[in-house]
Amino acid sequence: MIKMKAIHKIKGEVTVPGDKSISHRGVMLSSLAEGITKIDGFLPGADCLSTISCFRKMGIQIEQEGDRVTVHGKGWFGLEEPSDILDVGNSGTTIRLMMGILSTQPFHSILIGDSSIGRRPMRRVANPLRKMEAKIDGRLNGEYTPIAIRGGNIKGMEYHSPVSSAQVKSSILLAGLQAEGETTVYEPEKSRDHTERMLTSFGVEVDSFPEGVRIQGGQRLISPGEIHVPGDISSAAFLMVAAAIVPGSHLIIKNVGVNPTRTGIIDVMKAMGASLELLNEREVNGEPVADIEVKYSSLHGTEIGGELIPRLIDEVPIIAVLASQAEGKTVIRDAAELKVKETNRIDTVVGELGKMNVHVTPTEDGMIIMGKSSLRGAICNSHGDHRIGMSIAIAGLIGEGETGIENAESINVSFPGFFSILQDISESTSF
Ligand code: S3P
Repeated sequence: MIKMKAIHKIKGEVTVPGDKSISHRGVMLSSLAEGITKIDGFLPGADCLSTISCFRKMGIQIEQEGDRVTVHGKGWFGLEEPSDILDVGNSGTTIRLMMGILSTQPFHSILIGDSSIGRRPMRRVANPLRKMEAKIDGRLNGEYTPIAIRGGNIKGMEYHSPVSSAQVKSSILLAGLQAEGETTVYEPEKSRDHTERMLTSFGVEVDSFPEGVRIQGGQRLISPGEIHVPGDISSAAFLMVAAAIVPGSHLIIKNVGVNPTRTGIIDVMKAMGASLELLNEREVNGEPVADIEVKYSSLHGTEIGGELIPRLIDEVPIIAVLASQAEGKTVIRDAAELKVKETNRIDTVVGELGKMNVHVTPTEDGMIIMGKSSLRGAICNSHGDHRIGMSIAIAGLIGEGETGIENAESINVSFPGFFSILQDISESTSF
């Protein structure tokens, strides 16, 4: 258990670890491309290390030291049939994207993960892949791990996804890349588009339009040689909120990915009256990047729903902390996807942040937070969910008394070094 106390303010300039979504895709596409790819800024968190381990088990040579990775790609059909089960750990992105890739491979493979992965729905990916004629099985007719796949000879299709999920979209697109004919995925609202952007940098033709994405089968991936991964806005979000709610704070987070499909948190913070600016905006590897400056300011409640939701889905737990410090009511709707994340995040936000006097009420598809409340320290539990663990920690920065975080090690899934960075930018912290 990690223990912490309230602090006086957040000050300084920091960087955060690499983007999780881009790091996964970097290793996957580099393994499937011809040629060597050097990745820097890679996120050495548990989730992305699971992706590396899966590709090593299929014969891909990958060297990794901290945030530097070298992948010796062997081309799309250079993967070998794995002699062992592929273990994705806690990583939903790894298993769902791998299901698409493995559906194209002329061999048998089995995917498992931890107990959280064992409760997360996989039919949302298995069913469309089956429509493409992939052979997939798993517990409850392919809903849960272990998932077994015998791939090869799949057909392109047109798919209208019922959910706005980049994992579903990416899995189908990756399968579509080696399917017969063309594959089109439509989604209700646009989800993050890192797969499309990275495929383009690997020389693939991708046709993106407002309602969806189309890809032609039979395309090769050519390594761009280098991939520079920007900082993860979903990790930066915890520090952005810390600076916005601890009086007197002033923080600059350098080199953060600000892809518009991920910047819902910026829109929401601005709508709530936060003092937030993007500095030094630029583009790296086809991804927008900027430095983010946040100062403490007074906040007011807002309404969050519709197209904003996929653009901030991972930030809802920390938005609940932010909203607890805003005057009035914040309503989050259209976010039923929260129930199938690493934990049911409606339940874990309500249960854990509730212990710290965040006034949050669950709804069918989101939650309502009433501000502004005085938070108090409490013994809370991450339930093995990294983003719940970090949300508790940020609430603890303004909680009266001591806050304890049980199962805090789960934070390493996406933000190794979280507590030391927090300590570096905090005045009068004691953890
Ligand atoms: C991710 C997509 C999102 C997100 C997850 C990472 C990705 O999941 O919550 O943390 O890298 O594609 P869904 O696609 O299930 O919404």
